[in-house]
Amino acid sequence: MSSSLSFLGTTASPFHRHNSRHPQKAARAPTHFSPSASGTNATNTSANDNGDKESILRLDRRNVLLGTLGGLYGAAALGRENMAVASPMLPPDLSKCKTANAGSTTEPLWVECCPPYTDNSKIVDYKFPTSSTPLRVRKPAHKLNAEDLAKYKEAYRLMRALDKEDPWSLEQQAKVHCQYCNGAYDQLGFNVPVQVHFNWIFLPWHRYYIHFHERILGKLIGDETLALPFWNWDSPEGMTIPPIYLQEGSLKDELRNPANLSKVLDYQYNPEVPTTLTDDEIRVKNLYEMNKTYKESLPLPELFLGDAIRAGEEPDSDKTMGRIESIHNAAHQFVGLPDAPNRDMGNFYSSGYDPLFYSHHSNVDRMWHIYRQMRGNKVDFNDNDWLDASFVFYDENKQLVRVKVRDCLNPQKLRYTFEDVELPWADRNIKKKAGKTKSGAKPRSRVSMVQVSEFGPDPRPLDSTIRALVQRPKKSRTKSEKEDEVEVLVINGIEIPHNGRVTFEVYVAAPYEGNFVGPDLGESAGNFMKLPHFHIRNKGDSEKKKFSLKLGISHLLEEINAEGAEKVVVSLVPIVGDVSIGGVHIDLIKADWIA
Ligand code: C2O
Repeated sequence: MSSSLSFLGTTASPFHRHNSRHPQKAARAPTHFSPSASGTNATNTSANDNGDKESILRLDRRNVLLGTLGGLYGAAALGRENMAVASPMLPPDLSKCKTANAGSTTEPLWVECCPPYTDNSKIVDYKFPTSSTPLRVRKPAHKLNAEDLAKYKEAYRLMRALDKEDPWSLEQQAKVHCQYCNGAYDQLGFNVPVQVHFNWIFLPWHRYYIHFHERILGKLIGDETLALPFWNWDSPEGMTIPPIYLQEGSLKDELRNPANLSKVLDYQYNPEVPTTLTDDEIRVKNLYEMNKTYKESLPLPELFLGDAIRAGEEPDSDKTMGRIESIHNAAHQFVGLPDAPNRDMGNFYSSGYDPLFYSHHSNVDRMWHIYRQMRGNKVDFNDNDWLDASFVFYDENKQLVRVKVRDCLNPQKLRYTFEDVELPWADRNIKKKAGKTKSGAKPRSRVSMVQVSEFGPDPRPLDSTIRALVQRPKKSRTKSEKEDEVEVLVINGIEIPHNGRVTFEVYVAAPYEGNFVGPDLGESAGNFMKLPHFHIRNKGDSEKKKFSLKLGISHLLEEINAEGAEKVVVSLVPIVGDVSIGGVHIDLIKADWIA
């Protein structure tokens, strides 16, 4: 057994709450954390792959839940008016590509990123590689051996040398990303832009995007085993830009922030706010942040992957991006130039010009893979509007192919896997290492306490810290109640008038007597971080972008000993950008852990 496997074995428990009411969960515990077991057995789209007995248990439980919560949960999960007409997002009409906008409302930046192919009739269903083709093994970029490095560099050298109109060229590969996030396409049949960020499409779309990119790189050097290394930013040694991207040659990109080339990536990185932390402090803080991300979002995939988007829905209609996407945004900002338009990595339209982008996404993809393993490869959303969402890519056989989300859940089917490396963030003692929360200590006198009131019914500009008293739907929840429903802090109506980048942080504390709270902000629940992105297509149009932010707080409340509190104090701390907040509340959302 490899060291990382046994490491995983010992860290299963922080995320896995044993409960005798649900014996099947305890029985399945080891597979949740065993990459090798789940890596080879994953059956992707079936809801689970357990024995008959367990299925029966599960079925019973589901019936009970549907009986008692059905109406409520159905409405909450599917949401909105268009529930009746909901259907999966389809690939855009390739012949209707338009000029994209990568600028801001005040300063548009029109970019031509349409592909050289426009003929929809040439699209065929993707034929997945057969199981006899080699399994590509993606390895950590900071540890790549000389042989792999040489091949990888050669592949990019050849890709860069291709004619710019060639769909395999780095130019065209980069433009694919621009097409799908800067408004070059409308959704098929709707006057609504395609957007593969800020929603549940993010992880599967990028999985396919880099899958084809990887296969094209391999084809260029005639090597079917070529695999995209991953920028292992979830491990302390991997948190700087991997040195191979700084070497002279095809992996280097000139349009990166020179100040950060050897710095440690902070998951809360913002170019306008210099950090006061040491590198080691950043590393530990990151690990703790990752730990919380998984712990709070394992029972509820929308927290990790992002909100649903269905055919015809506006991408910026108060949706929440997944926590992993938010962390991923930090790396984009960190690598890109600090000034607008933040080329290359700092702006979606230009990210794909940097080879580091694909390695960054190789790790994002890996983080999703790990998340799925920890959930026993249970399907993330058992919802055909997700599973049947489809995309078109240009593949390594010079063919336009159609793919569906349901077919990418198991990387084995795409014939790649990840080298097994340690997950230091899964360490159950990580919080201790990150330093104890200060919110537990009661201030000495009333003098240092402040009175806090509710957020109120109207939107408020976030120009200085907002502290609001928020009612919890239920206090003193029992263990089984916590397993059934996840407590989620929702910050909605986040409005960004000028489309620039925005970051704010969210803290939760328990109030002392009544409405009083100490000066300490409490425990960090997460942050909101958005890259600039734009898709106003017509000059003079104005657009209002609205987002929301959902943060799981079940574990956090336990950690700050606030489970007994009727209300909590939520603090929103502006870091960068012009933003207003619509409201703050707490929801209980049905967990999707064992159903
Ligand atoms: Cu499409 Cu890293 O973003």
